[in-house]
Amino acid sequence: MKKIRAGVLISGRGSNMMSLIEAARAPGYPAEIVCVVSNRPDAKGLEYAAAQGIATKVIDHTAFASREAFDAALGHYLRSQKLDLVALAGFMRFLTPALIGEWQGRMLNIHPSLLPLYPGLRTHERAIAEGATVHGCTVHLVTAELDGGPIILQAEVPVLAGDTPETLAARVLKEEHRIYPEALAMVARQLQAKTST
Ligand code: GRF
Repeated sequence: MKKIRAGVLISGRGSNMMSLIEAARAPGYPAEIVCVVSNRPDAKGLEYAAAQGIATKVIDHTAFASREAFDAALGHYLRSQKLDLVALAGFMRFLTPALIGEWQGRMLNIHPSLLPLYPGLRTHERAIAEGATVHGCTVHLVTAELDGGPIILQAEVPVLAGDTPETLAARVLKEEHRIYPEALAMVARQLQAKTST
């Protein structure tokens, strides 16, 4: 069956992007990562992607006068890559409803909390401050509501006595790297099934 064409959007380190690229190397994986886009020229993840022979593209948001203009350029590039799916992986930009609408059901995000708990930033710090005993991560479809789209997969980790935001983040990140490739594969298989009928 034809592999689903996926693009990954990053802003920084790119460890989730790496886990997607690694998973997609397996012959039976239903998607291929065809490009990695960053809104920041200095995103660490770009080097890894380029070294893997994956097309990389920087669309620097500071070069655009408005969010709409940036999203128009981003949308144009994603279209040019003939993508079926887009995976946000530490992509630190709000997207316009127009772009989100275009990718409805085909754009995923990973978030470091058990949504609907702790949408937004500083999730680990907030979980510790509230005395949470369980925390985790979520892969969900992107909708206009921030971190609010339908959930595809979640993983839980314990919050341990003495955890700092950093130790907790590291425990969660391990799970992120496990569930993101799994969730992307699930959505890719659904898309494959749709296009083959
Ligand atoms: C991850 O914790 C992800 O859940 C959040 O931003 C972080 C990105 O890390 N959205 P990386 O760039 O994938 O290493």
